[in-house]
Amino acid sequence: MIRPAELIEEKRNGGEHDPAELAELILAYARDEVPDYQLAAWCMAVYFRGLSAAETDALTDAMIRSGETLDLGVLLGRKVVDKHSTGGVGDKTSIAVGPIVAACGVPLGKMSGRGLGHTGGTLDKLESIPGLRVELSTEEFVAQLRDVGVAIVGQTADLVPADKKLYALRDVTATVDIVPLIASSIMSKKLAAGAEAIVLDVKVGDGAFMRTLDEARVLAEQMRDIGVRAGREVTCLLTDMDQPLGRAVGNALEIHEARDTLRGDGPEDFTELVLDACARLLAHSDLGIDVDEGRRRAEAAVADGSALEAYERWIRAQGGDPDPAALEQAPVRVPVPAPRDGVVRRLAARAVGLAALELGAGRRTKTDPVDHAVGVLCFAKRGDTVLAGDDLAEVHARDDEAAARCVEEVLAAYELGDHAPPEHGILLDVLV
Ligand code: URA
Repeated sequence: MIRPAELIEEKRNGGEHDPAELAELILAYARDEVPDYQLAAWCMAVYFRGLSAAETDALTDAMIRSGETLDLGVLLGRKVVDKHSTGGVGDKTSIAVGPIVAACGVPLGKMSGRGLGHTGGTLDKLESIPGLRVELSTEEFVAQLRDVGVAIVGQTADLVPADKKLYALRDVTATVDIVPLIASSIMSKKLAAGAEAIVLDVKVGDGAFMRTLDEARVLAEQMRDIGVRAGREVTCLLTDMDQPLGRAVGNALEIHEARDTLRGDGPEDFTELVLDACARLLAHSDLGIDVDEGRRRAEAAVADGSALEAYERWIRAQGGDPDPAALEQAPVRVPVPAPRDGVVRRLAARAVGLAALELGAGRRTKTDPVDHAVGVLCFAKRGDTVLAGDDLAEVHARDDEAAARCVEEVLAAYELGDHAPPEHGILLDVLV
């Protein structure tokens, strides 16, 4: 029998837990045998004292043991790859990556989340497609992976229930932004879902959890190490989230952009991230190819139309209509004109995410409804030269009042100057 108060005290005083005792704390919490207030106090002690690698592994393992697990390799007789993003603004990467990887003959099975606050969620984006179901049973998920090669679904309640409970507690006790807790939360879900190789896209900057490259590197290293110690292959991409990814922010708008990218007509930064992630996933797959060959095959799948065909097969398999004309359009569209000639020095990702949230594209609390049609298209990105009156962006809103408010907010997110900012691409670093 563990005594939670003693473990809280041990952590508060900077001690290291016995892995078995830490595991029992988490499993007892998942069984409702430890109250929220004790776990909250423990999380706050971890905020100040951290967790060792052994403790982080014990926590991750206990979270996985709190529910069911999948072994996709055994179920499919194939090596399955997965990707995960730590979340950002305009991040529809999985929706383009899945079909490209599948078109190259590698199954990609993924459990995704919903958006909260200024960041969007893949499930909300997919649900802007009429008819599309994200709640698949495990049997349906596996069958679709086998037949179509790609499945992106909501996490089942049986997978890592301890994380669901702990995350909800952390969300309201100022204990979300703790690196070992984020790392074990993300990796427990990835490991339980059964992929053998995982590409992690760790976002860095104003619109991300991790504001600096150094912070993001620490999170990436901890996630990679958890995965490697659990016998999985992991590559971490550290990518720019100082400005929105691509142009589109908002659910249906992002589906259009993902589809355009699959036709070879996507924005440069988004296309680069998608192709890079695909190349690395293919290099981890059982095709036996390296990253350069993975890149060539990903580019070929876009060029020859097979990626778009895989997208249409996938969306139909989940009950959706892949025709872009089926996506709902917002009734009001208003441009955001540049107030002066200049170069875009900055486009604050978080501010654009919050502006889209205000339009109704996201949710402030878990139960808020989402308006799939609204959002923002950012035409001008960092480094672009504009003339006064050019459209920096376009707001898609439900009514004129919401549009006018959003135009002000998007304008405030742009910083125009006389000189171009330092150049860097979307990919800031790679950890293998
Ligand atoms: N995403 C997760 O799944 N867990 C965290 O703790 C933070 C982000």
